[in-house]
Amino acid sequence: MAAIVFDSVCKNYGAKPVVNNFSLTVNDREFVVFVGPSGCGKSTTLRMLAGLEAIDSGTIAINGRVVNDVPPKDRDVAMVFQNYALYPHMTVFDNMAASLRWRGADRAAIREKVLAAAKILQIDELLDRRPHQLSGGQKQRVAMGRAIVRQPAVFLMDEPLSNLDAKLRGEVRTEIIKLQRNLKTTTVYVTHDQTEAMTMGDRIVVIRDGVIQQVADPLTLYLSPQNTFVAGFIGAPAMNFLPAETQWIDEFCWLNLLGVKLALPAGLQSVVARHPYRQLTVGIRPEYFRLADDPSLAETFSVRVVLSEMLGADTIVHCDHNDQSVVVKLSGQFSFRSGEVVHLSVDKSRINLFAAHDGNLLT
Ligand SMILES: Nc1ncnc2c1ncn2[C@@H]1O[C@H](COP(=O)(O)OP(=O)(O)OP(=O)(O)O)[C@@H](O)[C@H]1O
Ligand SMILES: [Mg+2]
Repeated sequence: MAAIVFDSVCKNYGAKPVVNNFSLTVNDREFVVFVGPSGCGKSTTLRMLAGLEAIDSGTIAINGRVVNDVPPKDRDVAMVFQNYALYPHMTVFDNMAASLRWRGADRAAIREKVLAAAKILQIDELLDRRPHQLSGGQKQRVAMGRAIVRQPAVFLMDEPLSNLDAKLRGEVRTEIIKLQRNLKTTTVYVTHDQTEAMTMGDRIVVIRDGVIQQVADPLTLYLSPQNTFVAGFIGAPAMNFLPAETQWIDEFCWLNLLGVKLALPAGLQSVVARHPYRQLTVGIRPEYFRLADDPSLAETFSVRVVLSEMLGADTIVHCDHNDQSVVVKLSGQFSFRSGEVVHLSVDKSRINLFAAHDGNLLT
C-alpha cells in the first residue's frame, strides 16, 4: 500500500511562489504524470516528495505517514533522474547493487535481486560493462534497474527519457509502462512532453506556474480541458482558439465564427444558456475539421492556405481567415498551394466553448 497525499503544499524561492497550494492524492499502484511547461514547478514538487527539497508549508504523506521531516533514505522512494547519474567507474552490476550494499544486504540476496531486475529490463548481458560502454537507452535501463532492486514503495521519475532520441524514447516509454503494470509500484513521473503524459499516465496533473490546472485521465483531459491553457497544452498540433460571438434568435443560439453562422448543437445550447457571456473562445482541434463535400452548403468555412505539411499518414494545413490562423489536420496525403482557398466543415459535436475573458471551459 503506498498512497501519496499532498495537502496544501507550498514552496517559495525568495519571494517567488514556485509551488502554490498543491493538493493531490496519488492512489496506491497508480501511475500519475506531472506535466507542464518549463519552470512550472514539476521537479520542485517531485523533489519535495523525495525529501531533496524542504517544504515551506502544507504536508506530504506517504502511506498515511507525514514525511515532511523524514530524511530521503527513510521515505522508501526511489528516484530516476534525467541524467541517469550512474557511477562511471562501476560496472552495471555494481551500479545496480550499490544501494543494497549500503543497506548491508547479504551478497547472495543482492545477487539475486540484481539478476532478477536485469532480466526484467533485458540488460543481463551487460552486467560486466561500465556506463561508457552503453548506449543511452541501455544507461536508462540501468538507472531504472537501480531503482527496481530497492523494491521501493514509490518510484519517482524526473524526465527520464529526455536524453534519448525519438525512436528510443518511444521504445523505453513502452518498457516503463509495462514495467509499472507488472510491478504495480505507485509512480509519479514528470515530463514536459504531452505525448509521454497522454500515453503513460493513469491520470495526468497539468501544472502552470506552480498551480494545478486539472487532474484527470488522458481522455478526459483531451475531450474536456478545463481551460484554454490545458486545452492548448494537450494535443499536437495544438487546439485552435477562435474568437466567436453568440447570437440568440428565438431561444436558439447561433455562433458567429470565422464569418460563418453556426447553429450550436443541442448539448451546447444548454451550456451557453447557463452563462451570460456573448464573447467566447471556441476550441477546435485540428483533426475536427474536414474538407467540405459541398462548399455551397451552410456552415462551410473558407480559409486560405499558408503552408501545407505532408507528414505521411496525415497532412497539417496552416491556413488563415482574415489574419486569424487556423490549423487543420487531414488524414491522408494532400498538397495545397499556398494562397489556395479551401473549404472546411467542422465536427460540431467535438468543439469546446471557453469564456473569452478568462479562458475557462463553459460547463
Ligand atoms: N534552487 C533554486 N533557487 C531558486 N529558484 C529555483 C531553484 N530551483 C528551481 N527554481 C525556480 O523554480 C521554478 C520551478 O522550477 P522547477 O525545476 O521545479 O521547474 P520544472 O517544472 O521542473 O521545469 P523543467 O521542465 O524546465 O525541468 C523555476 O522558475 C526555477 O527557476
Ligand atoms: Mg524539471
